[in-house]
Amino acid sequence: MAPSTVLFTVSLVLVTIVGTPERLFVESATVISSEDHRSRVGSSSSSQLNEEPIIGVLAQEMSYSLAEKYEETYESYIAASYVKINKTRDYYEALLPKLNGALFPGGATWFNQSNGYAEAGRHIYDVAVELNAQGVYFPVWGTCLGFELLTYLAADGNEHRAHCSSNNQGLHLDFTADFRTSRLFAKAPEDVVQILANEPVTANFHQFCTTEQNFTEYGLDREWRVMSTNKDWNGLEFISTIEHKTLPFYGVQFHPEKNLYEWVRGKNISHSPHAIRAAQYFADFFVNEARQNGQHFASEVDIDKHVIYNFPATFTGLKRSAFEQCYLFEPNVDYLDELPPVYPPRVAAAKKGTVKKLATGV
Ligand SMILES: *[C@@H]1O[C@H](CO)[C@@H](O)[C@H](O)[C@H]1NC(C)=O
Ligand SMILES: *[C@@H]1O[C@H](CO)[C@@H](O)[C@H](O)[C@H]1NC(C)=O
Ligand SMILES: *[C@@H]1O[C@H](CO)[C@@H](O)[C@H](O)[C@H]1NC(C)=O
Ligand SMILES: *[C@@H]1O[C@H](CO)[C@@H](O)[C@H](O)[C@H]1NC(C)=O
Repeated sequence: MAPSTVLFTVSLVLVTIVGTPERLFVESATVISSEDHRSRVGSSSSSQLNEEPIIGVLAQEMSYSLAEKYEETYESYIAASYVKINKTRDYYEALLPKLNGALFPGGATWFNQSNGYAEAGRHIYDVAVELNAQGVYFPVWGTCLGFELLTYLAADGNEHRAHCSSNNQGLHLDFTADFRTSRLFAKAPEDVVQILANEPVTANFHQFCTTEQNFTEYGLDREWRVMSTNKDWNGLEFISTIEHKTLPFYGVQFHPEKNLYEWVRGKNISHSPHAIRAAQYFADFFVNEARQNGQHFASEVDIDKHVIYNFPATFTGLKRSAFEQCYLFEPNVDYLDELPPVYPPRVAAAKKGTVKKLATGV
């Protein structure tokens, strides 16, 4: 559930993954070489990987249960295991060319609220498609409700979903015959594939899903491929992993970030070493996708104004939310517009000389 990092109104917040990509919630998988990418999606001016990718995370309206716990104070949130604002299209057109990818987190909200999750998602999706058409490799990832949002947007905003009973369900993936030829799984280590195929490590918490019938009926099969399916508590088969046939867009109906970061008791979330290994694969995959994108902010000051670190994470687990931590946003929250008048240099850079000297001394 929920989004995070540079704010999109219902917006996007940025997560920087400098240094510790594994902290980047998400999920993800295979690495395609930059050459593959370029030949598939167009040209990228540089063959260098971007080692400091910054990903926008879509925030969403407060869920019913969070709103109940935090009364009227906040308007939107992003579960920290995976940030908001009310913006027009221009906002996304200006921000996306600075980012290296976008994440649609899971959660619980409707797609019909004005200035909401789905409207913001529409802008992000459309701008991401345009960027890719211009030859920029701009990846998008959707988890759970984010998966549903991707397919909803791809289906031109038509409600294509089926009702599903898949709450608290731990499942192995039923892979399709040719899943290994997908980008998401082509380079997945064999042990990760074996775990996903045989152990109930994927955490499912959804009341809607997309069936093969919905997929075909709404024309999604033309542009998207299915890599795995699953059955809900009533035996209804639903699609659990997808990727766009030509664009670097990926969706999973389950929650890799929950294995890694959500610890509320009584939930069917495996924290076994195998579950962690498999979940981390998805996170690594998506971060590696973002590394293929060389876009950047104009300056470090510009990055600092936008990143999620400007917002405190609230320990929502204390109120027995399903999320351990959330970024909670008041109405009309915006980026920092002013930074301290004297903007100190990064400590590491300032100390570089000192460290060198010490080393030489020894
Ligand atoms: C969103 O912005 C529009 C126009 O800028 C404004 O009319 C509307 O009240 C805002 N909505 C929210 C929920 O802040
Ligand atoms: C959105 O859809 C839900 C479910 O159909 C409905 O209950 C709700 O009233 C709708 N909200 C708006 C703002 O139309
Ligand atoms: C999606 O497919 C299921 C069966 O697979 C069906 O029951 C449901 O009505 C479909 N939803 C829509 C919106 O067509
Ligand atoms: C977790 O999901 C599996 C089915 O995939 C089920 O066998 C098990 O009973 C579930 N556990 C709980 C606590 O619901």
